[in-house]
Amino acid sequence: MVDPNSLQLYMSRIITQVLPHYVDFYIRPRLFHRSTDEIGESLMDHQAHQISGEDKLNMVINALPPNGGTGIYSYSKNSYFQKQSSSVEDGKVEEEIQKKMDVKRLASASNMIIRVADLGCATGPNTFSNAQNVVEAIRHKYQKQCPKDTSKFPEFHVLFNDLPSNDFNTLFTSLPQDRSYFASGVPGSFYNRLFPQSYIHFAYSTYALHFLSKSPEELQDRASPAWNKGRIHYTSAPKEVVDAYAMQFGKDTEKFLDARAAELVPGGILVMVMQGVPHRMPYSHITNGMLYDCMGSILIDLSKEGLFDESQVDSFNLPFYAPSLEEMTKLIEVNGRFSIERMELTNPAPWLKSPTQVVPEWVMHVRAAMEAIFTRHFGKEVTHEMFQRLTKQLLDKRDLLETKYRDKTQFFAVLKRNE
Ligand SMILES: C[S@@+](CC[C@H](N)C(=O)[O-])C[C@H]1O[C@@H](n2cnc3c(N)ncnc32)[C@H](O)[C@@H]1O
Repeated sequence: MVDPNSLQLYMSRIITQVLPHYVDFYIRPRLFHRSTDEIGESLMDHQAHQISGEDKLNMVINALPPNGGTGIYSYSKNSYFQKQSSSVEDGKVEEEIQKKMDVKRLASASNMIIRVADLGCATGPNTFSNAQNVVEAIRHKYQKQCPKDTSKFPEFHVLFNDLPSNDFNTLFTSLPQDRSYFASGVPGSFYNRLFPQSYIHFAYSTYALHFLSKSPEELQDRASPAWNKGRIHYTSAPKEVVDAYAMQFGKDTEKFLDARAAELVPGGILVMVMQGVPHRMPYSHITNGMLYDCMGSILIDLSKEGLFDESQVDSFNLPFYAPSLEEMTKLIEVNGRFSIERMELTNPAPWLKSPTQVVPEWVMHVRAAMEAIFTRHFGKEVTHEMFQRLTKQLLDKRDLLETKYRDKTQFFAVLKRNE
């Protein structure tokens, strides 16, 4: 005879202890590597309590992750430009940690565990060197604060975040063997809450925050002055289109800052590295702007060749926005829960003498990061043809390309969560 009390105990153990692990280790990983439609449904289930129906759909359509795997067009093989550019800020991040982070106090208040989050980590390898640099800098600061405490170091936990459809399998299988931290993957949009309250000590995001959660809706409305006919971005567009993009960026950043303010411990640090723009400089003056204009005109050519209807160009808008320091400062001040420790525009490629020298590599990098967004709307063949023609078009226009501004186009900020 089975004792009913022990049976009840056994069942309650299964429900409270075993099932959550089954969901974490068996069901959740199976969300990775699926078709975009399937991922859309999974994403909707997973975050249903946080996001409205329309937002869910737009997020799936617009905010697609970079190419997974390790093939020729993969992000893991075509992301060294992002690495070189964000590395320009490495020394400054280290300096801010040494000056502004009270690691001793933060570690002792959290059982000697320091939690670091990378928001928009992709598949590697850049995320691993970022994680290692941050962990080493924080450890170094602890050593400086507690020189006699050589036997007791904080332990580090790095939480790698990206959209659920990111190729986390490639990320996990390429984690460095000799890393000095525990690692976890956290699927979800960084425009929503990802972690419990007051949980993270240091969060950073490189080359991800210029991706909007969705493209602004007004751009689709033929009756609106912001209808973006014949273009795929706000580059070279009327003021109403630029304003609609700026508004969407404002809403997204507000949500991003609200979520991070809840998750960071008081005194915790948030680092942002992304594309930026000098105040009031039109995006058409910038090398990246020329890239988007070229993509748009190639797509118009392809539609005129009969591959698809031109209205498909009108209804496609790249969810990408580069802010100025002034815009960001206002948004951070409105949020009111961070102090700005450092904020500047930097040159992302001081070593690059001429952009013409690197056009094919540049196009490969853009393809690895954005191909999925185009494929979703235009299909594989059109997208492939557009990228094939892009290198030639940029090289044909090399004289114009050389005149474009590319100096202070990287936004860098270090914020501290108010005590
Ligand atoms: C160009 S990659 C940058 C990856 C890496 N941080 C680096 O520096 O190489 C941008 C990443 O941001 C992710 N991303 C875009 N929007 C996101 C969102 N709302 N939430 C989480 N990740 C997002 C993309 O999926 C992609 O992996």
